[in-house]
Amino acid sequence: MALLEVERLQVTFRKHTLFGGRRVVRAVNDVSLHIAPGETLGLVGESGSGKSTTGRAILKLVPIESGTVRIEGQDIASVRGKALRTIRSQMQMVFQDPYSSLDPSSTIGASISEPLRVHRAMTRAQMRERVEELLELVGLRPSHADRYPYEFSGGQRQRVVIARALALNPRLIVCDEAVSALDVSTQNQVINLLEDIREKLSLSYLFIAHDLAVVRHISHRVAVMYLGHIVESGPTQRLYQSPAHPYTQALLSAIPVPNPRKRDQARRMVLQGSIPDPSNPPSGCPFHTRCPYAMDVCGQSMPQMTPIDGGGEVACHLQTSGPTLGGRCLDELTPPARQTEVLETTTARPDAVIKCVSTQPA
Ligand SMILES: Nc1ncnc2c1ncn2[C@@H]1O[C@H](COP(=O)(O)OP(=O)(O)OP(=O)(O)O)[C@@H](O)[C@H]1O
Ligand code: SF4
Ligand SMILES: [Mg+2]
Repeated sequence: MALLEVERLQVTFRKHTLFGGRRVVRAVNDVSLHIAPGETLGLVGESGSGKSTTGRAILKLVPIESGTVRIEGQDIASVRGKALRTIRSQMQMVFQDPYSSLDPSSTIGASISEPLRVHRAMTRAQMRERVEELLELVGLRPSHADRYPYEFSGGQRQRVVIARALALNPRLIVCDEAVSALDVSTQNQVINLLEDIREKLSLSYLFIAHDLAVVRHISHRVAVMYLGHIVESGPTQRLYQSPAHPYTQALLSAIPVPNPRKRDQARRMVLQGSIPDPSNPPSGCPFHTRCPYAMDVCGQSMPQMTPIDGGGEVACHLQTSGPTLGGRCLDELTPPARQTEVLETTTARPDAVIKCVSTQPA
């Protein structure tokens, strides 16, 4: 059985505007996903695509408009009071900025033991013992318990936040840009730590990040979000080697290529424009206003999720109509843009522009 099952989740924010109007933002739209015990699901997408809201809805930190979130088979919508607190203790969240997650006037030991004080009846000695055990688990020293957050580096502070998230033996941790604020070498250390802890404790992660290179390293499977929708998901290797959705292809082509020889051949696909306003989303496929492959059908009807070879699913009309791919790799449909430095595509929508920029220095 899946540890976490999310089905057709919708989250809508309603805001009053300055001039008496109402703004309705559907931040999460018909999202379904699942995570197995011990599995890491990466969640990627541009800013504003709905990643954090999805994570928060799973932890019941924002109201769910419709759909279900089940943890070990139990629907979180139907639980209240003590049962909700128990479910919440099984799911924790680690945010981007460890400094703001920690009270600067409390010692690290007090911060880590806070969830223990709220949820568990423990003596002071038991609590101290548990705090020291958690500090060791995240690679810090037991004596660090008496220090304050300002005495730690950014990476160490994130370790403290991870220790606090582990205090109640959760089954799932939502890591929301948990390593994004760290420098590359510290990022690697914290990611390796998360991996070790996952293996040791059979934890699962929903790993939210905009850095696709980081997500690749840690995730078993990856889901790609655009404007509140999951547009593609699948095993990490398949998704990175043969993306099936044009948006995934664009995100991947923006990853810097470290090998100079491969970099010479690499071309970057730069998406034009920015993500549309979620309070006024485009009709049909949400990506059609920026997609170089867009066809007439794309502006008219929403593509349904279709299973693809190699594992996973994609929501794109290319798989079912037009230059039919029928589950084959998107690479088999070579856009003209791949052959030139900068080019306007002429597939069905003449106004759709894709830039293909060589990463080779001029
Ligand atoms: N509390 C809120 N009230 C109103 N709108 C909100 C609220 N929280 C998020 N939104 C909107 O919902 C959409 C999705 O936001 P979300 O923070 O989930 O995106 P994200 O993918 O996590 O972006 P980022 O990468 O910048 O963190 C955005 O348009 C955002 O402005
Ligand atoms: S459905 Fe159409 S617009 Fe949407 S990603 Fe596929 S080709 Fe592009
Ligand atoms: Mg976010």
